[in-house]
Amino acid sequence: MNGKVIQSPDHWIDLERDKVTLDSKPLSRPERRYILLYKPKGYLTTYRDPEGRPTVYDLLPGVDQFVAQVGRLDLDTSGLLLLTNDTQLAEALTNPEHKVPKTYLVKAANLLIDDQLDQLRHGVELKDGPTRRAEVNHIRDSGKYTFLEITISEGRNRQVRRMLEAIGSKALKLVRTRLGTLTLEGLTIGKWRDLTPVEIAQLKRNVRN
Ligand code: URA
Repeated sequence: MNGKVIQSPDHWIDLERDKVTLDSKPLSRPERRYILLYKPKGYLTTYRDPEGRPTVYDLLPGVDQFVAQVGRLDLDTSGLLLLTNDTQLAEALTNPEHKVPKTYLVKAANLLIDDQLDQLRHGVELKDGPTRRAEVNHIRDSGKYTFLEITISEGRNRQVRRMLEAIGSKALKLVRTRLGTLTLEGLTIGKWRDLTPVEIAQLKRNVRN
């Protein structure tokens, strides 16, 4: 770095100012990629599975750079998954202090009453602590099921499923439909696209606000 050999793997580099060479050849920063994927059920959000099950990376042929997933979706959850090599933005989006909203469509295993929806709104007790207030919209009741839309500003492990369990129900179907200003618009299930420059700028603003 800047003509000196760096031995420490956790040495900080400022890519704007520092000159980094390997075997005297300059290293350039890989092109930034921001991939929006409509994840189907049945795909793991890990890079490689020891059991050989399909992962979301199987759905990204033609993406040459390594992109890391921003947060996780369960195996049985479908919907919006962002993948990027912009680690700064990825960290900011997953930091609960930034309260970036995430919206899910839920099919509950039974009919829910207003009191249960209010519990979700005000916060329920989970084993890793109470949840923050959530925005909950009752979409419709259909037969034995209630469909609702829930927006949370945290991203704990299996959070929405556990919230439904905390009110005595179960999420039979879970789809993430929004992350900050991003939606699934323009995508069909299993497909991906690059974000537009405008979407990237908006996403960065989500974090700053
Ligand atoms: N909440 C869950 O319970 N599962 C997900 O995949 C995402 C949010």
